[in-house]
Amino acid sequence: MRSFLTILLPIFLFSLISVPSPVIAWGEEGHKTVGQIAQNFLQPAIAGSVANLFQDKSFDGQLSLAAVWADEVKHQRGSPFFGWSSPLHFLDTQDNPGKSCSVNMQRDCPDARCVVGAITNYTTQLDCTNGYDKFTRDIALRFLAHFYGDITQPLHVCGREKGGNEVKVTFDGDSANLHAIWDTQMVEKRLQDFGSDFSQYADFLTKEIQSGKYASQKNDWVSCISSPKAPTLCPLTWAIDTNAINCPFVWDTVDNNPDADLGGSYYQDAVPIIDQQLSKGGYRLGVFLNSILSKNC
Ligand code: ADE
Ligand code: ZN
Ligand code: ZN
Repeated sequence: MRSFLTILLPIFLFSLISVPSPVIAWGEEGHKTVGQIAQNFLQPAIAGSVANLFQDKSFDGQLSLAAVWADEVKHQRGSPFFGWSSPLHFLDTQDNPGKSCSVNMQRDCPDARCVVGAITNYTTQLDCTNGYDKFTRDIALRFLAHFYGDITQPLHVCGREKGGNEVKVTFDGDSANLHAIWDTQMVEKRLQDFGSDFSQYADFLTKEIQSGKYASQKNDWVSCISSPKAPTLCPLTWAIDTNAINCPFVWDTVDNNPDADLGGSYYQDAVPIIDQQLSKGGYRLGVFLNSILSKNC
């Protein structure tokens, strides 16, 4: 007991303050919500194929659990995905939000090393007609389950001040950064309306897509998927759609009222955007997997 208090306790307390928690995209809860919405739309046979592909049995065959894997490995020293996979999570547009927003692949995504290029490449790897082995297809599916979320987060398709990571803000009385409140704090605050249970939130959004306020828009969200050019056309279309949110909304309060606490009316105005973006990510992922995994090889 004595050695615990004198030796181990100080080491433990020091480790708490000295190990930074990883910066994750859409935060864990946002990605799980996207994965669960997608799962709700999978045809039963496709859900079976998904479960079959995942070699990591801790995912329990669930897209919600697999969807956070890409953020874990990018920070894990010794992981084969450590470091190099980080730029695949975003697309740093060299535009000028909130004045003008645009995506230009030559300008913003050199060598395809951005979320648009990553979705294109992992789509090719998952497609069984291209002959990749089971291990490669498993990894491709994990990355896609994650990047379908990232590409709907406005600040993941925005290069200004590293997607807002360098912008200090106040959120519910605490200091934070603009990127992190979009990834995490605002999603967690929204989740409180659903008992902080991502699957309840996902079920609510699923109903909105099926028969509620998104029912009339959902076909537009996936209209690119049946195109023969889908692997390149879809992620670019979706990146342009997401990037545009930076102009009317994301940066406005930061530029015009920088001392505002963003947990108030900014958060209230962001809720419909967060709901819609997570819904888009989940629905697209579900429809895409139903299509690509239905091929017979
Ligand atoms: N790092 C640099 N730019 C970023 C962005 N837009 N999103 C997440 N991480 C980033
Ligand atoms: Zn992020
Ligand atoms: Zn990410």
